Amino acid sequence: MFEQFEPLATDPILGLSLAYQQDTNPHKVDLGVGVYKDEAGNTPVLQSVTAAQVRCHAQETTKAYQSPAGDVVFNTEIQKLIFGADSPQLDRLKTLQTPGGCGALRVAAEVIVRAAPGATIWVSRPTWANHIPLLSSAGLKIKEYPYYQADTQSLDVEGMLACLAQVPAGDLVLLHGCCHNPCGTDLTLEHWQAIADLANKQGFTPFVDLAYQGFGEGLNDDAQGLRLLADAVPEMLVASSCSKNFGLYRERVGALSVVGSTVSAAANTFGQMQSVARGIYSMPPSHGAALVATILTDAELRQQWEGELAGMRIRIKQLRENLAAALVPYGDFSFIPRQRGMFSFLGLNETQVERLKTDFSVYMVGSSRINLAGINQSNLMYLAESIGQVL
Ligand code: LMR
Repeated sequence: MFEQFEPLATDPILGLSLAYQQDTNPHKVDLGVGVYKDEAGNTPVLQSVTAAQVRCHAQETTKAYQSPAGDVVFNTEIQKLIFGADSPQLDRLKTLQTPGGCGALRVAAEVIVRAAPGATIWVSRPTWANHIPLLSSAGLKIKEYPYYQADTQSLDVEGMLACLAQVPAGDLVLLHGCCHNPCGTDLTLEHWQAIADLANKQGFTPFVDLAYQGFGEGLNDDAQGLRLLADAVPEMLVASSCSKNFGLYRERVGALSVVGSTVSAAANTFGQMQSVARGIYSMPPSHGAALVATILTDAELRQQWEGELAGMRIRIKQLRENLAAALVPYGDFSFIPRQRGMFSFLGLNETQVERLKTDFSVYMVGSSRINLAGINQSNLMYLAESIGQVL
């Protein structure tokens, strides 16, 4: 049966890690997978997470199953973190703990297929490399709306709004909540408002992927756009992740939230979400969500975590400035500090990206997406000179 399989190409993002690890060049630079790194190139466990871990370990009394909805405290706290503690939507909002942001996207896709089997989901061009395989493998049809204009390194506002003005009722539009992956170019509140108006006019459902809350401008600022949307539209979905902002990547901590048009629509959709979870993985893993719930419900740990998150955000902003300055001799890279979050496109072609890898051991995604967090004082000049060499 299985002889029919041919070797698959490696994953365009995760495959970079293996290649980087095998590279013996002492000057190698890893700007591939979207994982935060400190000045020493490490991805340490946050101190607030370590403290929560000690507490959870001491208080744990059972390893019995939890429900497909996951940790109730986690779900409530994530709602408040995303939508705001005083959100007017709280009564028609339901949240399911999921195995990472990917789990949230997948559960959402399955629920959408149950609700509207012929629905198309519109994703930004470009979007995260895993969005299309992940959503389409659940049976959703995919179309793209224009988003990033490579020649001006900015948002294609007219193209995006003109396209969304044609999206039919019953389709969904996937939006990056903040820190757009891969291009780092975000929507302003005016754009969010224009999209909300179009959603109401056309009848499409917004679906927000919020994987980097706290990495752009701050926890509340990064959620303003989706909160505006939630105030304006009858229903929406939010897939969120604690991988980056809590540094819990491998623990797989995420959530899927639904805002229903009525209290019962939200409750019944939540039932479908739990039934989908039961049919795929039964229930999410408990450890990481317990850590997040512990941090978010303890004033001291929460303050510590917010400080650590601010530290990551500030470091990345500084790296944006540093890289743009180091690249001045090779061209105009002033767009880098204008963008937000972990990623920017350098604007290189695939041959140049390949040369950076083979000749200089500088690793980035084929689209020339870089993870800014992989830069530090000791590799900055080498990186800039290497880029200069391939330009
Ligand atoms: C990324 O975009 O690099 C991260 O979200 C990791 C992943 O799973 O692709």
